[in-house]
Amino acid sequence: MTYLVVGGGGREHAIIRKLKESPQVSQIYCAPGNGGIAADAQCVPIKATDIEGMVGFAKEHAVDFVVVAPDDPLVLGMVDALEAAGIRSFGPNRAAAEFEGNKAFSKEFMKKYHIPTADYEIFSDPASAVSYLREKNQFPAVIKASGLALGKGVIIAQNMEEAEAAVKTIMEDKIFGASGDQVVIEEFLTGPEVTVLAFSDGHTVCPMVSSMDHKRALDGDQGLNTGGMGTIAPSPLYTAEIHERCMKEIFLPTVQAMTAEGRPFKGCLYFGLMLTPNGPKVIEYNCRFGDPEAQVVLPLLKTDLAEIMDAVYEERLAEMEITFLSGSAACIIMASGGYPQSYQTGYPISGLDRNGQLKNATVYHAGTRCEGGFYVTSGGRVLGVTALGDDLPQALANSYRAVKGIFFTGAHYRRDIGKRALEESKG
Ligand code: AMP
Ligand code: GLY
Repeated sequence: MTYLVVGGGGREHAIIRKLKESPQVSQIYCAPGNGGIAADAQCVPIKATDIEGMVGFAKEHAVDFVVVAPDDPLVLGMVDALEAAGIRSFGPNRAAAEFEGNKAFSKEFMKKYHIPTADYEIFSDPASAVSYLREKNQFPAVIKASGLALGKGVIIAQNMEEAEAAVKTIMEDKIFGASGDQVVIEEFLTGPEVTVLAFSDGHTVCPMVSSMDHKRALDGDQGLNTGGMGTIAPSPLYTAEIHERCMKEIFLPTVQAMTAEGRPFKGCLYFGLMLTPNGPKVIEYNCRFGDPEAQVVLPLLKTDLAEIMDAVYEERLAEMEITFLSGSAACIIMASGGYPQSYQTGYPISGLDRNGQLKNATVYHAGTRCEGGFYVTSGGRVLGVTALGDDLPQALANSYRAVKGIFFTGAHYRRDIGKRALEESKG
């Protein structure tokens, strides 16, 4: 079968590498892809959000199955358009993608179905948001743009001054555009964060191994929020006991309620969880694989991903037995100097072979171009270097060893991925 993977980052590279292991996959296109992905798939220059272009390409090239990986085409309804054209795909339709695209909506949903989450209020005008914050006078306060904001729409205000500034930038200056028409103001939760990705076909939910992202740019969780600087899987803090509770209080109720709401979720559902002293709570739902969570979860997946995607599409996930390797995985993101603010690109990358890989690790390309067989940087997050190990310390040692073999001007990576989780799990 011929596959088309929509997107062009490290997550898409991880999906493609896993699909390539399947005997039923004979050809993979990726749109738009990137320099490193081109070693594993045929890249086509169509923007990930170009729904018409994507459907047209899929029809012309007799694509059998489309995997829509990023949030924006899902929220825009790419899966609906593919369905209308009679093309099989993986990912939620527009109605189900609203669980990520509209935070006000997902908060109301969680309240209605008693799914544990931070207490909150929703506001459509800045003056009432500010007077609520003043009245509550509880800091830190969490202020979120309701719509999609490239993972940057959450501001944690330490005092009233910062809170007012946050409301102003989101709702009046509109730095996230219409995504800031509404804000959600919520209670500040504490505890370790865990991500659980789960396959869902609207009836059955199959959680994958847990993972943990590191969102801040610098060591010690300092610096600005980024798309994610590194991941580990599984999280040593996510115990069997917590899992059982999440299954009962969060995962099953969410999938059942989505279906009850007439928005059955088919695809990969991302549960962003906070393990608070009062039990696990949902910070956010995303409607897709996490990036860079996919870069540690998928390498541990033993079951054929293409078969799972078929089962999700045909709503027979209950028949699947999905298994994972028992070891651990760690992914270190190598970013351009300056990311997530301004940075230079076009620097040659040394240490990689002709396929953009190196021995004893897997290099997922996020922001690279290939020029005459050599790789150069082309984005903020450049590479995700993943290695496995029998346990987490070993996986981390293996991936850091691999990172040391790669060089480009200004390369920046965190040296403490997984450190806090390891410390906290030892108590
Ligand atoms: P999100 O874009 O929803 O993933 O939020 C970005 C980050 O903000 C999360 O990973 C958390 O670290 C933090 N965050 C979001 N909501 C809360 C909350 N209610 N309490 C504490 N931290 C939060
Ligand atoms: N790594 C966070 C996300 O994909 O949303």
